[in-house]
Amino acid sequence: MNDTLRRWLLTFLYLGGLLVATSAAAAEAPTIKYPVPPPGDYNGDVVEQPIEFPHDIHTKVNKINCLYCHTYGRRSKVAGIPPTSKCMGCHRVIATDKPRIQKLTEYWEKRQSIPWKKVHDVPDFVHFTHEKHLKKFIFDNEDLVQNLSVDTVAPVCAACHGDLREMTVARKVKPMNMGWCVACHEANGGPGDCWKCHK
Ligand code: HEC
Ligand code: HEC
Ligand code: HEC
Ligand code: HEC
Ligand code: HEC
Repeated sequence: MNDTLRRWLLTFLYLGGLLVATSAAAAEAPTIKYPVPPPGDYNGDVVEQPIEFPHDIHTKVNKINCLYCHTYGRRSKVAGIPPTSKCMGCHRVIATDKPRIQKLTEYWEKRQSIPWKKVHDVPDFVHFTHEKHLKKFIFDNEDLVQNLSVDTVAPVCAACHGDLREMTVARKVKPMNMGWCVACHEANGGPGDCWKCHK
């Protein structure tokens, strides 16, 4: 199937889906109902980063909260990658004998920002925002807010990113395509209007 045909087919499929979705305007659920993605392998390539940053050591072993480093997600579109100054808050003293930390310190001393490569990147014509999703799945949930920790936050991020506690550098493991976004919106009361995601 060529691209144009696929594009039109998509449009028709989702126009049909929209009618169903609107009439079923789902009741709000406190937990994320995982949309079952269509079968297949969504794993993106392993992105080679300037420093192999181990998510597992920080989050699974040392229990550092995702939101401590990805601070902006609560208030803005982007979750953000932490600045080197945040790393140095710990690594001025922690593991300073390790080669990766020496490389980190070198960037810091040269006042160079670390050129982290993007892992997840939806096309520019798609509007996505962390703020609304984190509000819905974390901050509107009283129980969760009372118990904010890496082990309560990570499963929410995992709905869209996989479980980072089990990864070193981040890797794309979810489809991140329109069918996937729409399936979750249908299951959890997210918007179905085209213009909410396409501006
Ligand atoms: C809140 C403290 C803290 C912050 C902030 C932090 N780290 Fe760490 N990091 C640790 C701890 C603790 C370890 C485990 C050290 C050990 O086991 O020897 C670690 C380990 C590492 C290691 C593995 C070192 C090795 O080879 O064993 C790397 C690489 C690393 N950190 C990079 C970073 C980078 C890059 C940042 C910023 C994006 C960062 N860290 C921010 C606490 C922190
Ligand atoms: C509803 C799905 C969803 C949830 C939940 C989610 N993300 Fe994301 N995240 C995305 C998408 C989609 C992108 C790509 C955005 C783009 O390309 O503009 C992304 C990108 C990112 C990025 C790259 C930089 C940026 O902000 O664009 C980071 C870091 C990130 N997410 C961290 C997190 C963390 C941490 C959590 C949990 C606190 C989380 N995300 C929860 C879907 C989600
Ligand atoms: C100590 C700081 C730190 C902590 C804690 C941390 N991250 Fe990260 N995160 C980073 C850095 C640095 C990168 C860039 C390197 C990479 O892609 O792995 C990153 C990258 C990411 C990305 C990919 C961004 C992109 O380009 O698309 C996602 C998603 C992400 N983190 C989610 C999480 C989640 C979920 C947690 C909690 C389980 C978490 N992170 C905890 C520092 C951190
Ligand atoms: C884990 C389930 C889930 C996934 C996956 C998901 N969303 Fe959502 N999204 C929701 C829910 C639920 C809401 C409604 C939040 C609320 O009630 O405020 C929402 C809200 C939104 C909004 C806010 C609309 C407004 O009111 O401003 C946008 C935009 C959006 N999603 C885009 C996307 C895009 C684009 C993707 C795919 C890249 C995506 N979402 C993936 C569950 C999800
Ligand atoms: C919940 C968010 C969301 C909603 C609602 C949504 N889309 Fe999309 N759409 C996306 C995402 C994400 C992509 C990018 C897909 C990719 O990269 O594979 C996309 C891509 C597309 C494309 C390009 C397809 C391609 O293969 O390049 C078209 C056309 C499109 N959408 C039309 C629509 C129409 C028409 C509607 C309303 C019936 C709609 N979308 C509703 C998220 C959404």
